[in-house]
Amino acid sequence: MITPTNFYQPGLPTAEQLANWANAYFPADAAAPLTAAAAPALDTVAGLSPTAFSPEYAPTSAPVSHNEWRKDFPILNERVNGGKPLVWLDNAATTQRPRQVIERLSYYYQHENSNVHRGAHELAARSTNAYEAARQKVADFIGAPSARNIVWVRGTTEGINLVAQAFVRPRLQAGDEIILTELEHHANIVPWQLVAAATGAVLRVAPINDAGEIILSAYENLFTPRTKFVAVAHVSNALGTITPVAELTAIAHRHGAPILVDGAQSVAHLPVNVAALGVDWFVFSGHKIFGPTGIGAVYGTDAGLKAAEPYQGGGNMIADVTFEKTQYQEYPAKFEAGTGNIADAVGLGAALDYVNAVGREKIAAYEHQLLGYTLEKLRGVKGLRIIGTAKEKASVAAFVLDRHSVEATGKFLSARGIALRAGHHCAQPAHRRFGLEGSVRPSIAFYNTREEIDFLVNALHELVRTINN
Ligand code: ALA
Repeated sequence: MITPTNFYQPGLPTAEQLANWANAYFPADAAAPLTAAAAPALDTVAGLSPTAFSPEYAPTSAPVSHNEWRKDFPILNERVNGGKPLVWLDNAATTQRPRQVIERLSYYYQHENSNVHRGAHELAARSTNAYEAARQKVADFIGAPSARNIVWVRGTTEGINLVAQAFVRPRLQAGDEIILTELEHHANIVPWQLVAAATGAVLRVAPINDAGEIILSAYENLFTPRTKFVAVAHVSNALGTITPVAELTAIAHRHGAPILVDGAQSVAHLPVNVAALGVDWFVFSGHKIFGPTGIGAVYGTDAGLKAAEPYQGGGNMIADVTFEKTQYQEYPAKFEAGTGNIADAVGLGAALDYVNAVGREKIAAYEHQLLGYTLEKLRGVKGLRIIGTAKEKASVAAFVLDRHSVEATGKFLSARGIALRAGHHCAQPAHRRFGLEGSVRPSIAFYNTREEIDFLVNALHELVRTINN
């Protein structure tokens, strides 16, 4: 049985729904057959036919069980460290790509490659169609009202920098305040420090409790008439905490401050609807959701995107250029100077199709159950302390082990084929809140299994025995 939890956010599954899905899809420990996963729509691009994909790579329409999702990810069959099966538990750092994404990239380069929005030829039309169709897929995936609300960027880091420089910086005066939280990734700290240094603005930091949850009353107390902006993670990459974004947003708006949500660690694990959450900005990376590296998206409201100033100058973002004056395109083009990462945007679209085909509720339910199993098993390891015990968690099960350094533990596990991250995970303040400089971080995705968790936990028991005996 799954313990019901509440993800706080409107548009997300209720506690009861989540528990019902989990118990329906994955009763007890059995690999329950699921209903057929719909084939990702591969024919939305001009000139692209699904038959162009080898049958071997075509999405199945046969019933699949949760373990069968693994077959879509060729790299999960990889052997490492002298022939050991790869156990990929480093999903918070990057996820693996299904064949559907790999094939889509290959198809793009074989049949569509061209620059976009330029050139009166067939391939320019194909690539532009594919690129803009992918933008629409992103909008649909996160519940944005239109593709116009989506700006392509390299990833979450570039997206946060864009919002910081294009929207927030021009609105700041010395003494103005930006609110962050103690659990942020460095990518949601350093861009704000740069903006603060340039304008004389001040950063204020909402504390977290011993479980790694934002203390809402302390967060609300930080607001003053000088508060100009709030930036917060949806899911902590170090602690796994799911933050109550709808509530954080309502509080920020009550005080007249727009809010940015760093969705890098949430989109692959929870259904996200930016309209239901009411956020002003939402940013995520393709590679954290089974898509390519080097591509990500910024969602902004119409008001925000209209008000923001160009971030970088160059081709593609202009309507007219003279040496005296340049007129810019409307958003999103206004923020997309130069040639974008066309193929990887198309690949991200394929990744979102894939996730939709598997089913976001199924993913959330399956992972919820697997994370619960992981935390329970880890707690059975002598001398192991879980870092981040929030009631609402996703994917991440970070820990430290008595008498074993984080680095040595990571090395020991790597030698057994287990890939995870050992270190500060670009979240030093979050670790220091717990008196630590780092942790060992397994992070799961829907293709992980209980067998892999058992393998990890058995390896940890073995490691502990080497010192305790
Ligand atoms: N942000 C990535 C992580 O948490 C790189 O590992």
